[in-house]
Amino acid sequence: MSKILVTGGAGFIGSYFVKEMKEHDIVVLDKLTYASDLDRIKDESHMTFVEGDICDKAGLDILFNTYDFDIVVNFAAESHVDKSIEDASQFIMTNVFGVQVLMDVCRKHWHKKGLFIQISTDEVYGPSGGEDFDETTPLNPKNPYAASKAAAEHLIKAYENTYDFPSIITRSSNNYGFSQHKEKLIPKTLDNIFHHRPIGLYGDGLQERCWLHVKDHVKAIRKVLEEGRPHEIYNISGKSRLTNLDMVKTIIKAFKKQGFVYKGEIEFITDRPGHDTSYRMTDHKLGYEKKIDMNDGLNEIVSLFMNQNK
Ligand SMILES: NC(=O)c1ccc[n+]([C@@H]2O[C@H](COP(=O)([O-])OP(=O)(O)OC[C@H]3O[C@@H](n4cnc5c(N)ncnc54)[C@H](O)[C@@H]3O)[C@@H](O)[C@H]2O)c1
Repeated sequence: MSKILVTGGAGFIGSYFVKEMKEHDIVVLDKLTYASDLDRIKDESHMTFVEGDICDKAGLDILFNTYDFDIVVNFAAESHVDKSIEDASQFIMTNVFGVQVLMDVCRKHWHKKGLFIQISTDEVYGPSGGEDFDETTPLNPKNPYAASKAAAEHLIKAYENTYDFPSIITRSSNNYGFSQHKEKLIPKTLDNIFHHRPIGLYGDGLQERCWLHVKDHVKAIRKVLEEGRPHEIYNISGKSRLTNLDMVKTIIKAFKKQGFVYKGEIEFITDRPGHDTSYRMTDHKLGYEKKIDMNDGLNEIVSLFMNQNK
């Protein structure tokens, strides 16, 4: 049994990771921003919750003195691209400065033992022109969020080289699953369909994303934690590649299956600046076999959503 610090564990993906790692002793540190929801982890008896900020060195010091962590998994981030376009400052603060502070506290307390896992994103590669990126592809981020995640990765690589810092980076594609924040495409679409409101899609809606069920994602992170090699990077790609337009149509169909017929319309709205058309990557290196079929995953989400809104 390891003592694991999960930063950002009240967020969407972090909370699923907490639920996945039931045999371990987990401490969740979370700043409780608008994107968090403590209900996601309230029933997890193997978990202790601490409210705090990864940018707060003194607070982290106290935490590391209290708990002798073997592993840190960093999910804490500002994660919404649209918000980063409005104002990037908090993205630089949490996603870059916060990672530096967290690594420095790990270095101080670990003396080269331990394992730091950074949860990163396929967005650091930038748009694909049809080719699949692998872990050696140079980074080419195209929006402030992606740039902040890429900056953190460069810093981690520099710490590995300079201090032999024991870290691993994972890069995943778009996640979906129940209880994601309403600002993201799928939950926003569920809500709009349910209220027969128009569904707004950026540009022509033909931006392509590879969708990964959050439960598959956290199982892949478990594999990285158990089998991954320090200083390596592992892609974790989704099982289904779909345009945003096809994703919305698939969700409308999933509602229809439940007997709910959407009476609104899809609307195409002004594209967001710098919108990447497609991300593609291979994840043979990790070799995690994804289990959840996208249609099954979406049907389950729609059914849970309908139950919740009865
Ligand atoms: N959602 C995706 O599709 C996706 C895909 C690839 C990678 N990622 C990465 O996975 C991680 C988790 O994503 P998510 O969708 O669960 O995000 P989220 O926005 O749902 O959750 C982030 C959590 O981090 C917490 N947080 C924010 N700033 C903090 C700080 N300074 N200190 C402590 N906690 C803080 C928030 O309160 C929230 O609970 C992020 O690092 C993100 O970049 C997400």
